Amino acid sequence: MKQFYMPVKVLIGENCIKENQELFAGMGKKAMIVTGRHSAKVCGALDDVTEALQASGQTYVLYDRVMNNPSVDCVYEGGRVAREEQVDFIVAIGGGSPMDAAKAMAMLAVCDIPKEKIFDGVAAYPALPMIHVPTTAGTGSEVTPYAILTNPGRETKTSISASSLFPRYALLDPAYLQQLPEHSLIHTVIDSLSHSMEGMLSVRASEITDSIAVHAIALIGECLPRLKDNELSQEDREKLLVASTMGGMVISATGTTVVHSMGYSLTFFHGTDHGRANGLLLPEFLKIARQSHPERVKKMLQPLRLASLDQFAEQLHDLLGQHETLTVEEIEKYTALASGSKNIKNCCVPVTPEQIREIFTKSLGQAESGR
Ligand SMILES: [Fe+2]
Repeated sequence: MKQFYMPVKVLIGENCIKENQELFAGMGKKAMIVTGRHSAKVCGALDDVTEALQASGQTYVLYDRVMNNPSVDCVYEGGRVAREEQVDFIVAIGGGSPMDAAKAMAMLAVCDIPKEKIFDGVAAYPALPMIHVPTTAGTGSEVTPYAILTNPGRETKTSISASSLFPRYALLDPAYLQQLPEHSLIHTVIDSLSHSMEGMLSVRASEITDSIAVHAIALIGECLPRLKDNELSQEDREKLLVASTMGGMVISATGTTVVHSMGYSLTFFHGTDHGRANGLLLPEFLKIARQSHPERVKKMLQPLRLASLDQFAEQLHDLLGQHETLTVEEIEKYTALASGSKNIKNCCVPVTPEQIREIFTKSLGQAESGR
């Protein structure tokens, strides 16, 4: 069954928080702000949020210990703090890691879920209400019902999903992207591109998600020529931020597919940035997708104003630089992990383990085995 459900109120524009302080007042008396160690402080988002809370006479506790690719321990610790501090709502500031961690904490603040059961299905559980403030242009987490956590038991990243994990508000201020290092901006933009493209190849893709995805790809395409040397204008940054949120809206309905399930191994075992991992794999996946779904792939390339997949691969290569390499043994292991992932079944392109191995091999070469 195809469906589209999007309960998040999205506000977009410079000074978005300052101009919408009244939204905070309606959330409760005490907040927990969830973020990483640096980015929210550098870009000014944390100051804007604390000002908005103080203006409404609200108190807050700050949890700023979210690491990249958050662990289960981290979200349980944050959930415990939220519970002990008796907070009424959560404000998440940052990229995908703080936003995803904040969602899990919002749930753990009000639900007793044994740690070993966290990946067993949480769809029916409630969570504290949330405001999300993205400071990258990639994850789209501010409009999804997913929280993606490191899952050591399965040696990958695994999402938990529940309607209660949709934030109530997403506040998008393009000024927060200004301080982002160039490589982080590139990687996150490629993540959002991957969300829209994979969404178009999901078995759950619909007219609604396709139209959002095509427009998001076009917005990214308009900015790509200025992305590499960070010559982006504020207008460009707003387009990239909106495209990221649109990509999130796409995957909130479609889920992600082959590229994400493969990319998780690069992040889990090698620490590769999530968006970079997707970008390394995306062109070779699309070459396989083109064999069975040429019109779908053409529909993705048109808004980028690219005539061929080779041009697309060149453009991504230019943005990502030298590719990492994997050994034969690593490729075998990651092929097995990805083949067992539920994301593979979510793809309208039937992808075999042999093809997954082929995508890894062509994308990441083969270093000498035994390294
Ligand atoms: Fe992603």
